[in-house]
Order: sequence, then C-alpha cells, then structure tokens
Amino acid sequence: MPITISPITPTFAAEVGDVDLAQPLNSSEVEEIKQAFWQYGVLIFPEQRLTEQQQVAFAQHIGPLESNIVTLNKEAKLRITPDLVDISNLTANERIWGEQSRMRQFQLGNRLWHTDSSFKYLPARASMLYALTVAPIGGHTEFADMRTAYDALPEEKKLRLTGLVAEHALAYSRAKTGFTNFTDAERTNLPPVPQVLVRTIPETGRKSLYLASHAGRILGMSEEESRALLAELIAHATQRQFVYTHRWRVHDLVMWDNRCTMHRGTDFDDLRWVRDMHRATVSDIANTCEQEGITIPPAATESAHF
Ligand code: OGA
Ligand code: MN
Repeated sequence: MPITISPITPTFAAEVGDVDLAQPLNSSEVEEIKQAFWQYGVLIFPEQRLTEQQQVAFAQHIGPLESNIVTLNKEAKLRITPDLVDISNLTANERIWGEQSRMRQFQLGNRLWHTDSSFKYLPARASMLYALTVAPIGGHTEFADMRTAYDALPEEKKLRLTGLVAEHALAYSRAKTGFTNFTDAERTNLPPVPQVLVRTIPETGRKSLYLASHAGRILGMSEEESRALLAELIAHATQRQFVYTHRWRVHDLVMWDNRCTMHRGTDFDDLRWVRDMHRATVSDIANTCEQEGITIPPAATESAHF
C-alpha cells in the first residue's frame, strides 16, 4: 500500500499514513517521505511503535545524528540512550523532576520560539520527536512556517534583511529564562556562532527566515537595534496564520525541518503530569553562512560574551 500524505494546510504540515517506521523503509518510501518533508516542513506520523534504536534508524534516513549536548554535563545521569535527546520531565529514576532541578530550569528554554541547535556552528537540519507519554492538558508543540512568513514580508524589508548575519548562543536564550548555571565544558564548547537571517532551502528553492530565541545580536548593528529587529521578525513569523499547533497523542512521531520552521512547547502542569518524549536530531550539512556563501571574519564574533 502506498504511503498517504494528508496536508493540514496546502503548504505547511501534513499527516503521513500507511507507513510503519519500525520496519526498514525501502528507497521509494524514503524518497516519498523526503519529498513531503521538504514541501510541508512538518510531518506527523500517528500510531508508531518505536524502540530507541528504531527511532534512531528512521532519523538516519534523513542524515547523520548530531552529538547530544547533554554529554557536556558529566554529572547528568541519562535515562535514555545519548543518541536521543530526553525531552521529558523525568529524572533518571523515572520520577517527576523537582521544581528547582537543573533539568527543569534548562528545559524552560523550549517554551521560547526557536529552531534546534542554531547555537551550534553546524545547526540541526531535522528533528523527530516521539511521544511516549503525553500530558492530559497543555504540553502542545507549536510550529511556525518561516518560508510563508518570509514571503509575506514587504519587499523593502526583504532587501534590508539580505546578507544579514546573527550571532546565536545557547546562553542568549537561556538568559531569557534566567538560566546561567552552565558547566565549564558547556561554556567552552558552545561559543556564539554566526547564522544567516535569511536562507534558501535547496530542495524547494524557497527562501526562509532563520530565527530563534538563541539569536542575540546582528553583526554590524547595535544591541538595541538587533534586539528590536529580532523581536519584530519573531512576532511577525509567529502570527496565527503561520502557525500549526500539534496536540500530541501517544505514539505520534512529529518531524520538522529546522531550516525553515520555528517551534516552541506550550505550558502544562509539569510538576503533576508526566510528559515523556524522545528526540532524534539530524545535523545540517554546513553552517548557514557557508551554505549562503557569506564569509564571516573570525573577529566579528569575538566581542560576544557567554
Ligand atoms: C524539542 C522542543 C518542545 C516540546 O524537542 O526540540 O523544543 O513541546 N520541544 O517539547
Ligand atoms: Mn526544540
């Protein structure tokens, strides 16, 4: 039976049926999934039963996994394989985290609009989030279509954004939620990195805004001007008409293209309900400045502080 693709809007987010991601996929199935992925940016695969290894194997059809930043914190006790990111409110002993726990403070950053790993020189291309336990109220994930948001900008704005480069750092987004408790290894290994503000997605030729709460400064602009422009663009891109809200069901796998979407988790009573999700994250092929052919002098990012 062929795979079925049911678009949620004509250009953004689609549900994919008649495929079992636990089974090895043949090359035509992989190709169909990839084509739908480039086109819709967010794909929803309901009713999947996946082990950790099966989720990893599916992700590797899209590209190599990125390394998990949790490994930079030697004290972190892991509940799941380090090949996957633990997006849950559970400790290594499967208990709900404490109100003041480091993990909780750290994950608050997922409630801000972002795209995964834009704070890494080589950011994430795709993320696949798999729901094992969902909260009965809240705990949705919202996705914004950054291509349609770009298309909707006035022409003079598009011209003004051309060639601009922002500096992204995990410390920038975490500062917004009050988290400063980084380990030495995290500080050393996660310096600010340059990323373009507008990128072209090769598979579709579509232009896209590339923004995140990790973006702190635009090269060549004052802090105030940078902050105002980034806030304005994020507000523009996350207007209702560009956003799909995913209300999770157990065993959904949702896959998004980090190159042309932003996402955020919504609030839920995380001290009461268990919400357990596992994320596989696939690396992009190069830094966004390299992909756009923009050369950044190394000194340009030096003034940044962690
Ligand atoms: C993520 C993320 C938000 C959520 O997994 O990358 O940002 O709703 N998740 O859990
Ligand atoms: Mn995320």
